[in-house]
Amino acid sequence: MEKKAYRAHVLALPYPSQGHVNPMLQFSKRLTSKGIKATYATTVFLSHTMKPESLGSVEFDTISDGCDQGGFSEAESIHDYLKRLEAAGSKTLAELIIKYKNSPHPFDCVMYDSFLPWALDVAKQFGLVGAAFFTQACAVNYIYYYAHHGLLSLPVSSEPVSIPGLPLLQLRDMPSFIYVAGSYPFYFQMVLSQFSNSYKADFVLVNTFYNLEHEAVDSMSKVSPLLTIGPTIPSMYLDKRVENDEDYDLNLFKLDSSSSTEWLSTKPPGSVVYVSFGSMANLSVKQMEELAWGIKQSNFYFLWVVRSSEEAKIPNKFVQEMGDKGVIANWIPQMQVLASKSVGCFFTHCGWNSTIEALCLGVPMVAMPQWTDQTTDAKFVEDVWKVGVRVEVDENGIVNRDEIESCIRQVMEGETGKVMKENAKKWKQLAIEAVSEGGSSDKNINEFVSKLTRT
Ligand code: UDX
Repeated sequence: MEKKAYRAHVLALPYPSQGHVNPMLQFSKRLTSKGIKATYATTVFLSHTMKPESLGSVEFDTISDGCDQGGFSEAESIHDYLKRLEAAGSKTLAELIIKYKNSPHPFDCVMYDSFLPWALDVAKQFGLVGAAFFTQACAVNYIYYYAHHGLLSLPVSSEPVSIPGLPLLQLRDMPSFIYVAGSYPFYFQMVLSQFSNSYKADFVLVNTFYNLEHEAVDSMSKVSPLLTIGPTIPSMYLDKRVENDEDYDLNLFKLDSSSSTEWLSTKPPGSVVYVSFGSMANLSVKQMEELAWGIKQSNFYFLWVVRSSEEAKIPNKFVQEMGDKGVIANWIPQMQVLASKSVGCFFTHCGWNSTIEALCLGVPMVAMPQWTDQTTDAKFVEDVWKVGVRVEVDENGIVNRDEIESCIRQVMEGETGKVMKENAKKWKQLAIEAVSEGGSSDKNINEFVSKLTRT
């Protein structure tokens, strides 16, 4: 068999959840366009769920999280899952590296999601280059860096919080693991442990772009040299096609795309509110009810993604009355939807992927963060990038229907909406520049690739 000349072979190791698999896959594709061979390894369980028959230019393999049959649901708790993932993951990662060792293309580098710091230890045992891949916003990572190094006294109780390079943050702007003290202690430990050994990594790659977060990037770079390499969005959505950048992604949920995208295409430009809370958020029954009636009161067309596990919370009366004003779907191709001219506003939980996807496609937002990093992303959406409005929670901890209607109106109509739309277009342009030849992210990717290249 002919041995193809690659510049280097990178093993990409994503954290096994929906919001983490695609950024790393898209980035792996980008690397293959630069002459790198990329092998992408998910857990066995995810490989059954997502069925990645073809990843185009990217090769596919697996490691184990110790839960091959049921994934996360097989574990007793978050703690149990993370323990199993580390134990089985380290062992099977080492086996995978050994399997390739005598092949024509052994691995040169392990590029691991920063939620998996143990992968760096395994890479180093084998003398491989280690590249940490930070999936979330630089500002969020820098807050965790601060907390990990004892620079924030925890639990954070007084506000505003001042961190160099970040706007002053109120408690509600901090990642929820910090401001809701004691919530999800094992996830909190996991996000802090991203920095337990990152100083040993040869590269720290962050899925953002310089102009978007330049102050946070400059501050964090002083303590942890990093390369911004984002947005990791298929290039055809950014109007500049990169070689090998086919439009495919991985879905843990079954797509029910055609009817919703067809419906969307029949609607006038800017007339539809797209509503989605991503892959993990669970709204209370009361909150779903308020959301439904708030959408109805706003009287715009809507496309609402409600995962099947959440569907029972939609009020029956709402479904009976919605007629052809809207469509409810369990999971849709979000990039295609955000790219549609019909979408005028994204009502979002502000997961980092959703946020950066909306920014890069010039779609203004209503931000309704739920937990983890979403609160900080929402702060930036409203106050730094000025591409959206953040909902206010009432005294009962609920975002009520009138607030929902009012926020949708602010984005969809009037002067404020126009300004947000203009700002969103500006970020789209800057995102395109960042990944185009000679742009900040493109240069950083080239630096990563050239340093990896075997001499
Ligand atoms: C959480 C965190 O908030 C996020 O920052 C993190 O890094 C991953 O976990 P999540 O709920 O997964 O977020 O949301 P988000 O980061 O927005 O990712 C969801 C992804 O699913 C996006 O890429 C979005 O395009 C995709 N999606 C969502 C679909 O493809 N179809 C849908 O119907 C809904």
